[in-house]
Amino acid sequence: VSDMLVDSFGRLHTYLRISVTERCNLRCQYCMPAEGVELTPSPQILTKTEILRLANLFVSSGVTKIRLTGGEPTVRKDIEDICLELSNLKGLRTLSMTTNGIALTRKLPRLKDCGLTSLNISVDTLVPAKFEFMTRRRGHEKVMNSINAAIDLGFNPVKVNCVVMRGFNDDEICDFVELTRDKPIDIRFIEFMPFDGNVWNVKKLVPYSEMLDTVMKQFPSLKRDQDHPTDTAKNFTIDGHEGRVSFITSMTEHFCAGCNRLRLLADGNFKVCLFGPSEVSLRDPLRCGAEDHELREIIGAAVKKKKASHAGMFDIAKTANRPMIHIGG
Ligand code: GTP
Ligand code: 5AD
Ligand code: SF4
Repeated sequence: VSDMLVDSFGRLHTYLRISVTERCNLRCQYCMPAEGVELTPSPQILTKTEILRLANLFVSSGVTKIRLTGGEPTVRKDIEDICLELSNLKGLRTLSMTTNGIALTRKLPRLKDCGLTSLNISVDTLVPAKFEFMTRRRGHEKVMNSINAAIDLGFNPVKVNCVVMRGFNDDEICDFVELTRDKPIDIRFIEFMPFDGNVWNVKKLVPYSEMLDTVMKQFPSLKRDQDHPTDTAKNFTIDGHEGRVSFITSMTEHFCAGCNRLRLLADGNFKVCLFGPSEVSLRDPLRCGAEDHELREIIGAAVKKKKASHAGMFDIAKTANRPMIHIGG
């Protein structure tokens, strides 16, 4: 095994996030500006064959978990075939997807048959009118139905991602926690992060400490559960609840020391940190006929340049990055 995926701090990267499209059927405010974002012309988007070639390279070098993201991964027409072929890669243990759930009630049974092993669904409010405000689209009922459909299909847990923003949904935290009482839902409260075009502002960030207080007051049996050193989430249980409560504290208590994540973007750029502005194209050498060992060299060199941690929320907010919709989280 090569050391292609080990960075200069000794972190082994076993988790690859692949953004399969820049398109989305929602327009969430924290993810993109009102006017939308410019889309990479489709000939420059990786084809299924190219995704497979690169994924194979990563998996044969130690990646055991792939997450499909977007944009919204389910809007890509060949998403089922991509899942099927990825799930056949020898050495891959987990194939996940992060999705807004809009198209899932229809697509989920087939995706499961194609090898999807776990599912994270994003929904930031339980109030349909607020959903329309935040996403600039309709569809709250579809998303809630998808969460239930995922549970019925046996996904356990179903992780629900909720970006908490002051004045928008911070009053709903305990309502979300209620969802975990009788269902295998892992509700994950996420600190609002700055990306290009999302008008981030520290006043809108609800810090982990505050969210924890809010939950603790209403659910005093809240207890820290085990989390893996590479986890993005700090996990908690509540007595008698079937599901769990978690917090993703990227801003106030980053978890970079345990980072095992790399990103392949829809346009074929390779990104070693969510907040690192540096990217290198894998698509260009691939299309120029690069051999595996040449691609491995490019990947290994980029991984070696990965920083120990992100630069802190105020610096991140000032540094150019892509809009979230291009990165996929
Ligand atoms: P699991 O694999 O199920 O634990 O999910 P995940 O947390 O790795 O991925 P998901 O797509 O559900 O992302 C949840 C939140 O974590 C989103 O807000 C992501 O942007 C954020 N996130 C995911 N990976 C990273 C990371 O490497 N660094 C930081 N700072 N945030 C991340
Ligand atoms: N801050 C935190 N999380 C975000 N996500 C999208 N934009 C942001 C942001 N600005 C979340 C989505 C999805 C995951 C991929 O990232 O809600 O669950
Ligand atoms: Fe890893 Fe960068 Fe996220 Fe830190 S900010 S956990 S280094 S991807």
